[in-house]
Amino acid sequence: MTEETVHDTVSAAYASALERTKGDSSKDTASLVEGLALLAGYADERQRHTEAAASSFGCGNPLAFAEVAEGDTVLDLGSGAGLDLLLAAEKVGPTGRGIGIDMTSAMIDEARANIEHAGFSDRAEVLKGLIEELPVENGTVDWGISNCVINLSPNKERVFSELFRVLARGGRFAISDIIVERLPGWARLLPDAYAACVSGAISEERYLAGLRATGLEEVEVTNRLVYTVEQIETLLGDQLERLPVPRMLVRSGLRSVAGQVWSARIRGRRPR
Ligand SMILES: C[S@@+](CC[C@H](N)C(=O)[O-])C[C@H]1O[C@@H](n2cnc3c(N)ncnc32)[C@H](O)[C@@H]1O
Repeated sequence: MTEETVHDTVSAAYASALERTKGDSSKDTASLVEGLALLAGYADERQRHTEAAASSFGCGNPLAFAEVAEGDTVLDLGSGAGLDLLLAAEKVGPTGRGIGIDMTSAMIDEARANIEHAGFSDRAEVLKGLIEELPVENGTVDWGISNCVINLSPNKERVFSELFRVLARGGRFAISDIIVERLPGWARLLPDAYAACVSGAISEERYLAGLRATGLEEVEVTNRLVYTVEQIETLLGDQLERLPVPRMLVRSGLRSVAGQVWSARIRGRRPR
């Protein structure tokens, strides 16, 4: 697949995932979003922004381990419906700035509505663009954050070097993302496994090496939430039900990846 095809496929998947959270009050969709949110580790932040929270697809809570201060500029790579952008806007105050980047028009519209609803139009905005080509000036960002997005990029090296480029000297980043060490071949081939943040994910070693190769320093994983078989099933969603093999076989296949998939908190900085 070309990079453009990957972007188009992922974008279509998230436009329809958003639509499901908006229009479909079915128990399945609600429990899937709820399940992912529980894994993501938000506390009461979700109650403050219920609309954005209902359409959030994160696998962590980057602002929980970023020391964002008043007046900072925060850039959210793949801002989705904007929950983390709203949390950043709370922290940076009226003198700071939250900028979200996303490629999916429906997500951008949703985030803009959520920003307006929260009363943060003075300090938060969303720009349409690719995280591989950030529409942001060099050296202007104090904190780069990202929540479950970089695994979806077909060119992660490019994303990492864009992150380096936009960070100010001494600027820091806090990323929550899925790490996959090993996955059975059949799971990689599931049609929706890429958009589900599973089959595009890379190993921790590759992830950290990619960040360090750009010149970013103090790159480290500060926490790992290792997924259980049930949680990996939650990520993969109902496509497992449609597999033409007995459920027992799918489960035993998934048991072999227990311990191989996790949500990592990754931090680092651009040298001063
Ligand atoms: C798993 S969702 C996460 C959204 C948000 N960070 C959250 O926590 O709810 C992935 C989001 O990243 C966006 N995205 C994926 N790949 C992208 C890329 N290469 N450039 C820009 N946006 C991208 C999608 O449109 C979608 O909104």
